[in-house]
Amino acid sequence: MATRKNLRADRTSLTHKVGYALRHPTRVVAHARRAARDRWLAHRHRDHVAYYRAVMASDTARDPEAAVGSGSHDRWLALGAMQFDYLREHGLSPRHRLLDIGCGNLRAGRLLIDYLDAGHYYGIDISPDILIAAKRTVTAQGLQRKLPYLTLTHDLTFDFLPDRHFDVVHAHSVFSHSPLEVIDECLAHVARILAPGGWFDFTFDRTEGKEHHVLHEDFYYRTETLVGLAARHGLRARFMDDWELRGHGQSKIRVHAAAAASA
Ligand SMILES: C[S@@+](CC[C@H](N)C(=O)[O-])C[C@H]1O[C@@H](n2cnc3c(N)ncnc32)[C@H](O)[C@@H]1O
Repeated sequence: MATRKNLRADRTSLTHKVGYALRHPTRVVAHARRAARDRWLAHRHRDHVAYYRAVMASDTARDPEAAVGSGSHDRWLALGAMQFDYLREHGLSPRHRLLDIGCGNLRAGRLLIDYLDAGHYYGIDISPDILIAAKRTVTAQGLQRKLPYLTLTHDLTFDFLPDRHFDVVHAHSVFSHSPLEVIDECLAHVARILAPGGWFDFTFDRTEGKEHHVLHEDFYYRTETLVGLAARHGLRARFMDDWELRGHGQSKIRVHAAAAASA
């Protein structure tokens, strides 16, 4: 099932805002609350990661599953399964080592941890609150024997991780919340930690119009911007057409170190 994406909208324009409010009057109050929080947090935290960590603290306190973008528990389960099934269909095997950037409360991580050999799942996140929720997921799912690593980070330089270690690096719904400098930092460093033949999949909110962001929380990029950024770091990137058929609102790009064969 393909998702209908609004690829031309500029969500910062007054016309879009008025049209949206008229189409969804019940969402206006919630949006106004988010806008007020955005102004307060953006004033307190000049650095984007510190800002988004504060957003996650606020959202996680209310509901960890909603904080990672799930409207219901069923949706949390379905979005985790969608990520897992896609990786499996693309050749993920239990012996692979996987780095889950922005692992959240293990929506996909719980399935990946269960599937991969013990110690082969490594989740990193900027939010201590969501990592505490992630540990609760490990406990609730009885995954202790799989010894997943769950680590707090402030940047995406991966400086604490070894060379050529990960067969798969994965970032679902993380760059959709990231300014370009965060994505740039990640792409500048990911090749070092990718094992030979390994790949890096990330999702992003796609626009075919003007690139823009909403409340410092949601960022919309053109495919060619991200493919070009990857190329500047010596990486080969391709748009994953088959992900478009999954019914997810974001698009996906796969990146390889330039010399590696396709997966
Ligand atoms: C929408 S949630 C998705 C979580 C998980 N990937 C999933 O699909 O369930 C985004 C997650 O990315 C984390 N995050 C945002 N920016 C990040 C960054 N620069 N580095 C690492 N994690 C980040 C957030 O704290 C949050 O847990």
